[in-house]
Amino acid sequence: MSEYSEPTKFIDLAAQQKLIRSQIDAAIKKVLDHGQYIMGPEVAELERQLCVTTGAKHALTCANGTDALSLVLMAWGIGLGDAVFVPSFTYVATAEAPAQLGATPFFVDVCENTFNLDPQSFKQAIIDSRALGLKPAVVIAVDLFGQPADVDAITEIAHAENIRVLVDGAQSFGATSKGRTVGSMGDATTTSFFPAKPLGCYGDGGAVFTNNDENAEIINAIRLHGKGVQKYDNVRIGLNSRLDSIQAAILIEKLKLFPKELELRSRVATNYAELLSDLVKVPRLLTGHTSAWAQYTLIIDSRDQVQRKLAKHGIPSVVYYPIPLCKQTGYKHYPVVKTGTCVSSRLSNNVLSLPMHPYLSLRSQKFIAQQIIDITKS
Ligand SMILES: Cc1ncc(COP(=O)(O)O)c(C=O)c1O
Repeated sequence: MSEYSEPTKFIDLAAQQKLIRSQIDAAIKKVLDHGQYIMGPEVAELERQLCVTTGAKHALTCANGTDALSLVLMAWGIGLGDAVFVPSFTYVATAEAPAQLGATPFFVDVCENTFNLDPQSFKQAIIDSRALGLKPAVVIAVDLFGQPADVDAITEIAHAENIRVLVDGAQSFGATSKGRTVGSMGDATTTSFFPAKPLGCYGDGGAVFTNNDENAEIINAIRLHGKGVQKYDNVRIGLNSRLDSIQAAILIEKLKLFPKELELRSRVATNYAELLSDLVKVPRLLTGHTSAWAQYTLIIDSRDQVQRKLAKHGIPSVVYYPIPLCKQTGYKHYPVVKTGTCVSSRLSNNVLSLPMHPYLSLRSQKFIAQQIIDITKS
């Protein structure tokens, strides 16, 4: 039995809620009072604030981060015969959105030091997709675990080949790359407000960011059943994908805490690095990058042993992601870059995400680190 009594949560949403519960209650009450549950004033206000936070010209909220990807791909007319390049080491939604539209998710490897899409592997995949008779159309650069992908290198390769860059920022809202905030990079960016995300609501939610006026207009129409000038004028196939006014009201309250929470997450990450970097591979940031630290993920040979030991002491840890997407039953028939995805496979065997949230105590972190040190030294 552990002598350690402080309960450690993987993500502590209750600690955050305690700080802002009365403001959240008041914000929800306001929506109940005015009764505009769909596309109410809170949605417009949140979208205005999201533009200010990200620097994007347009922010369009929607039902979730998966729909956000679909909205962009639909607005760009992506479908049958199009190759959409996606990292093999990511959450399934990244490949699901293009697959649902009849396009071909084309699996590319990632870089071990960042977990993000490898530009060289992407370059090879473009050649391979043409050999298969596909049209290279879009690359989805995922900002895994909170750090932005190398968007400049990816964009240089993509734009030279007329390929659009869609940044999947589901895990990186609030992160930056060379002074630019997530939401302002790529040809469009998406994010998720799933409760466990760095900025999460109390249900499902998502958003698209773009600087392109025409794309914004089309995405707005698609999220509202493909409406034209009026509601019952349906000019294209769309979706029913809106953020509820109540969720927008909650996000407005949470946005007030968000800058401070980003700082606290960053401090937690620095503490872990100081405690563990001599013994295991800790996450590294590219020069000029900050992370939203959605996850703090180690690369560790004795992963399963460490996870069991942490569990014995009541400390949760999670393997994101145990199977690369190109090996998943539902996706293994899609093409993979000729040079393979061995980094993705290796990571699936060796990654372990530790508790990470703004309110994690240093005492908890020291205890967690000690368990890992004990195992790696034994
Ligand atoms: C990388 C990535 N893309 C897309 C999504 C989809 O977001 P949602 O769950 O809001 O649909 C997620 C959610 O976990 C994600 O991690």
